[in-house]
Amino acid sequence: MGEPAQKRLIRKLDLERFLSKIKPQPAPKAHLEQYTLSESIAANMLYLAAYSNDDIIGKTVLDLGCGTGRLALGAAYLGAQTVVGVDIDKSAIRTAQENSKTTDLASKVQWVNGDISAIQGKFDAVLQNPPFGVQTRAADRAFLVKALEVGRSVYSLHNHPTVDRKLIKRLKASQGFLQVAPSAFLERFVEQHGGVIRAVYAILMTIPRMFDFHTKLKHEFVIDLYVIEKVKGK
Ligand SMILES: C[S@@+](CC[C@H](N)C(=O)[O-])C[C@H]1O[C@@H](n2cnc3c(N)ncnc32)[C@H](O)[C@@H]1O
Repeated sequence: MGEPAQKRLIRKLDLERFLSKIKPQPAPKAHLEQYTLSESIAANMLYLAAYSNDDIIGKTVLDLGCGTGRLALGAAYLGAQTVVGVDIDKSAIRTAQENSKTTDLASKVQWVNGDISAIQGKFDAVLQNPPFGVQTRAADRAFLVKALEVGRSVYSLHNHPTVDRKLIKRLKASQGFLQVAPSAFLERFVEQHGGVIRAVYAILMTIPRMFDFHTKLKHEFVIDLYVIEKVKGK
């Protein structure tokens, strides 16, 4: 028999503290869009999946494009039964392995260094912060297709389709997630791949200047968290 699932509610502040210990990419690569998710966004995403939707505790979880393991290790910390993290970048996986040792979660997480297409099987939940397609057009689509092939519930981050100053203002005031409508394109795409969108939340993302082509000290933009369910039998 495995260890009992973690049922005690973990405070969001403790989860953020835990996530802050996960080392980011030492040398991020622009062509792979290796932006690390902030502790606060990762914590909100994990909290929603774990405590509002019961998709983490005691469940099998997959992190597609795991980077150095922030979402994967966060899921393990909250009490996932097992977690698989996959990333095409060897150095990211190496850091993820180190992170799982320093956080004492190595026995719960399996790391795969390879393309997401290598992943087979079935998972209760897929968490993903894919490349948004800024460097390679539509890079996030293959992630959605794979997530819907292997996952029952999918939590997937995407670029907000428009630059919406009013929404940015509201997000700054709320300091959290705001529910918005799905993009017509993604709604159709998800449906074509056997899923149904349950909710979409807009989130304010801020990234520091990381790459030569960044012209500002920090870049602020809106991303959308899609909560998707696989339709049975599809
Ligand atoms: C935006 S980063 C997200 C990293 C991490 N999940 C996080 O949220 O902090 C996207 C990750 O996807 C990985 N990636 C890009 N294309 C991939 C592919 N085809 N297969 C597997 N991983 C891929 C990149 O190396 C990168 O680590």
